[in-house]
Amino acid sequence: MDIYAHRGSSGTHPENTISAFREAARLQVTGVEFDVHMTKDGELVVIHDERIDRTSNGNGFVKDMTLEELRGFDFGSWFSSDFKGEPIPTLQEVLDIFSTTHHHLNIEVKSDIFPYDGMVEKVVKAVAMMNLDARVVISSFDHGAIRRVKQLAPQLETAALFMESLVNPLNYLRSIPADALHLFLPAAVRPFARGVLDEKVKVRVFTVNEEKHAEALLTVGITAIFTDFPEKIMAFLQTK
Ligand code: G3P
Ligand code: CA
Repeated sequence: MDIYAHRGSSGTHPENTISAFREAARLQVTGVEFDVHMTKDGELVVIHDERIDRTSNGNGFVKDMTLEELRGFDFGSWFSSDFKGEPIPTLQEVLDIFSTTHHHLNIEVKSDIFPYDGMVEKVVKAVAMMNLDARVVISSFDHGAIRRVKQLAPQLETAALFMESLVNPLNYLRSIPADALHLFLPAAVRPFARGVLDEKVKVRVFTVNEEKHAEALLTVGITAIFTDFPEKIMAFLQTK
């Protein structure tokens, strides 16, 4: 099974931080998933929420702060005092970590709430500058954003994120177009996923933190998952 560390190794380290990504690299996972937003001054930063409140000692929207302002906050202490002072990473810093490894990188473009003018162009450019096209998949709940990725860089793999089953997933993916389906766990164990897999479309499932769910997915033929606990899930899969 392909294991993607979700927001880095976010079960044991503060999500979307350099510490979480270094831990994922140490564990030799297949890849890492992380989320990108854009600051007031147009910098790409790695954080899940539109606001910084949940994962830092500050509050407010990413879009309303400059990178320098965001760098003044602590993105580690909310998780544990062991990670006090963790800064918000830029996209570039995360790409730098994995520039010399084998890992696949799933960049989730978080433009589904705020449109972030020019964000997709910046993400595509950053990936190209690092020669990472072959190891990157760009995903989004904003399917217009992944359509734009394909217009700019047809060679990049894209994935449409879904919370629910679709009536005709293959037709929909082709209409975007998107190469892969990233699917919420409860929808993935329903029979519809099998039809997609039969057509050799890549399906990756989020977020799989329990061994029994990894096992259930294997039985329906799903071979790629996102997990907050890659070490635990990899240990379990080795017993299979
Ligand atoms: O990319 C898979 C998963 O991360 C999507 O949901 O809310 O965790 O970003 P979310
Ligand atoms: Ca995500």
